[in-house]
Amino acid sequence: MKTIKHIKELQEHLSFARKTGKSIGLIPTMGALHEGHLSLIKAAARDNDFLVVTIFVNPTQFNNKEDLKRYPRNFDSDLTILSDYPVDIVFTPSEAEMYPSEEKRQFDLSPIDTVMEGKFRSGHFAGVAEIVSKLFEISTPDNAYFGLKDFQQLAIIRKMAKILNMNFNIIGCPIIREKNGLAMSSRNQLLTGEQQAAAPLIYKTLLKSKELKNSLSLSEISAFVKEQIDRHPLMQLEYFEIVDDVSLMPVTSWESPANKIGCIAVQLDEIRLIDNIYFD
Ligand code: PAJ
Repeated sequence: MKTIKHIKELQEHLSFARKTGKSIGLIPTMGALHEGHLSLIKAAARDNDFLVVTIFVNPTQFNNKEDLKRYPRNFDSDLTILSDYPVDIVFTPSEAEMYPSEEKRQFDLSPIDTVMEGKFRSGHFAGVAEIVSKLFEISTPDNAYFGLKDFQQLAIIRKMAKILNMNFNIIGCPIIREKNGLAMSSRNQLLTGEQQAAAPLIYKTLLKSKELKNSLSLSEISAFVKEQIDRHPLMQLEYFEIVDDVSLMPVTSWESPANKIGCIAVQLDEIRLIDNIYFD
């Protein structure tokens, strides 16, 4: 496993791998690795001969400076974790390497960047699309891996890749959870003991709402979720929406043929957590 900081060196290695007939799998991350990230690496190892994991805490996708400052950075232990996996390259560029000029690259991602996360994290998806488009262009993988935990992010990335006529595979991988149901996230490291005890309520509520789908209307389910979350003293619901998994627009009836996914964001004190569940 080689750690590389510069695009040119990465591309030399990739071009050699390609010449020797190897398929390339790309796994973009912001580090502070956990089992969720590792599941993407395992999936990539099954499908590809040559794996590139990127670790870059991308400043342009943080709409909140405090959030960027406190984002966990465990670079050394990340490398130790990765050394147990068949990873060929860990790409860890600097900010100057990824953003050599002030110019911003923008995509028309509407309407899927205007709903849910888009409403609450202004500019976040523009930053995600910008950095992932650069990583895609730099590495031109055969397959790129993303988690369904960030369901809306995956939709944004698929749209950006379509705009750029990129025709490699973008593969969505299932959500990996703690034993107590909490979706794994690098931000979970920031939770205090009390917050950790509270956090599993999010998935518990999603599971309960799915159980209730045959007896409650869509708006009654939303009211149920809000009530369950908001009555916890440390939690506040930011949104809960049941949307069509392609258009990301709210589903208006249970009879709709759309695949329905319930997406939630909760503010747990100062930490923001997201999760989702398929209703079908
Ligand atoms: P990060 O939060 O580090 O996540 C990297 C990848 O791991 C994403 O595709 C994310 O969806 C996936 N992931 C995180 N938690 C997961 C879980 N519990 N189960 C399954 N997959 C999980 O998402 C980002 O970084 C950034 O926005 C990035 C795409 C790297 C662009 O900067």
